[in-house]
Amino acid sequence: MSFRRFPTYAELSQHAAEHIAALLKRKPDALICLASGATPIGTFHQLVELAQTGHANLNQCSFIGLDEWVGMGPDDEGSCSYHLYHDLFIPLAIPAERIHYFNAKADDLAAECRRIDDAIAAHGGLDLLLVGIGLNGHIALNEPGTPFTHYCHVIDLHETTITVGQKYFTKPTPLTRGITIGLQHLMDAREVILMANGHGKAPVINQAMTAPVSTDFPATIIQRHPNAHVWVDEAAGALV
Ligand code: PGA
Repeated sequence: MSFRRFPTYAELSQHAAEHIAALLKRKPDALICLASGATPIGTFHQLVELAQTGHANLNQCSFIGLDEWVGMGPDDEGSCSYHLYHDLFIPLAIPAERIHYFNAKADDLAAECRRIDDAIAAHGGLDLLLVGIGLNGHIALNEPGTPFTHYCHVIDLHETTITVGQKYFTKPTPLTRGITIGLQHLMDAREVILMANGHGKAPVINQAMTAPVSTDFPATIIQRHPNAHVWVDEAAGALV
């Protein structure tokens, strides 16, 4: 696990976007899984700019959606897929056949989990997984207690996630369950980037990197991955 602290969020975002662009230069048809949420928005804006100025080629890569609130989809403002579509897929005009996202409104969510597991396998695995970290140590929607061996699964959300998750919506929104890629996908990915910014993330970044690896704090799994980077801004790295 490597660690790097950037002076500003803008520099962190720029670095992550350039890293993705470099991966796509080496492997244009890479399979990438990107988190939604507040943390990677700057990276997405930079990546769109790199693509629009001819410095990144996203014409062949495919995307896996990291997670979604059960019962929501890309048309629901504030959902995970809504953000990814608006910040990345729509500006880059990524065609539907290159986007593999959970249908969190499906009757058979177990079948949705298998569909995404199969899509990842069919592409030969994830080349890059970019994730944030929750205030309870979750990665994607793998809440504390989730076995490290899970692939895609449906999960009951913890109180912290339900409370913090309100920030994505303009009005109080009931959140109960999530559908998410699993931590075994993280371990199987060829490269993992864990990003965080802001003072609020400083304690959890420190814990992810230094606490004993345990399902009690899922982000500690990053310590076990052979090719993982923890990239933070000055504020989020203040305690490391
Ligand atoms: P955030 O979410 O980027 O909006 O802080 C991170 C997470 O909950 O995984």
